[in-house]
Amino acid sequence: MILLDGRKTSNDLKDEIAIAVNSIKKNGGKTPHLAAIIVGSDGASKTYVASKVKACDFVGFHSTLIELDENVSEEKLLQEIEILNNNDAIDGFIVQLPLPKHIDEQKVLMLVNPDKDVDGFHPTNVGRMALDLPCFLPATPFGILELLERYKIETSGKNVVILGRSHIVGRPMSILMSQKRSAGNATVTVCHSRTKNLKEFTLQADIIIAAIGIPEFLKAEMVKEDVVIIDVGITRIKDDTKKRGYRLAGDVDFENVSKKASFITPVPGGVGPMTIAMLLKNTLLASTRKN
Ligand code: GUN
Repeated sequence: MILLDGRKTSNDLKDEIAIAVNSIKKNGGKTPHLAAIIVGSDGASKTYVASKVKACDFVGFHSTLIELDENVSEEKLLQEIEILNNNDAIDGFIVQLPLPKHIDEQKVLMLVNPDKDVDGFHPTNVGRMALDLPCFLPATPFGILELLERYKIETSGKNVVILGRSHIVGRPMSILMSQKRSAGNATVTVCHSRTKNLKEFTLQADIIIAAIGIPEFLKAEMVKEDVVIIDVGITRIKDDTKKRGYRLAGDVDFENVSKKASFITPVPGGVGPMTIAMLLKNTLLASTRKN
């Protein structure tokens, strides 16, 4: 079994991005600038956004963090987005999800200027992705493609089973992996909460991408020998033996599934760090396109 080391791969990517930024600065170019809006004080979201800001520092980007109160009005959030859309200093920005229930997520994401939409969530970017046109790919699927490519995992003609149909991971992943591309050309099946006889599908899978948010859902008896496992899940589980009071669990029963897998991502240290690296890559792309 080979561990797909997202931490190391993302560090390699960040080093590459830092070199590119250095050369832009040396040639008198503009320093890429990423902004992030976070609404409320959800612990996990705050941790993710803090990691994104830290990663910006590491590669030499400017970053701006806009923190809004949990009870902020939708109108005020939309105004903040307009300000970022119109601010030439900002090359790209994200609105950290999930948003509080009183805010219409679709309305928010639709207002982001597609040219600054480094999360790739705007319908323009989703549509362009589906048509295989130049666009910002959503960071988590983009990171998974990068991980598969860098570990030279063959995907052409393979059976890929995706667990979950979310707009952020499952749906885009299914589109990308069926396209003619490296880390593509696969036969893709999307399974979800209404799928009957799930095990029949997972047992046929050469590659499984688990993105359902149910800790340790995928068990060893559900996978075949030598399967490739990509675990997108990252759930905080209360654990009083830990100093911070919780442990992180993926969607895969790592201890047992890893014994059958040829490649597997750990949680943490697998997909998570890749997501951050790809967000930086998209920001660099946004900046170089614009400037
Ligand atoms: N919440 C979970 N994943 C993501 C992501 O990739 N981008 C944003 N903006 N929010 C998220």
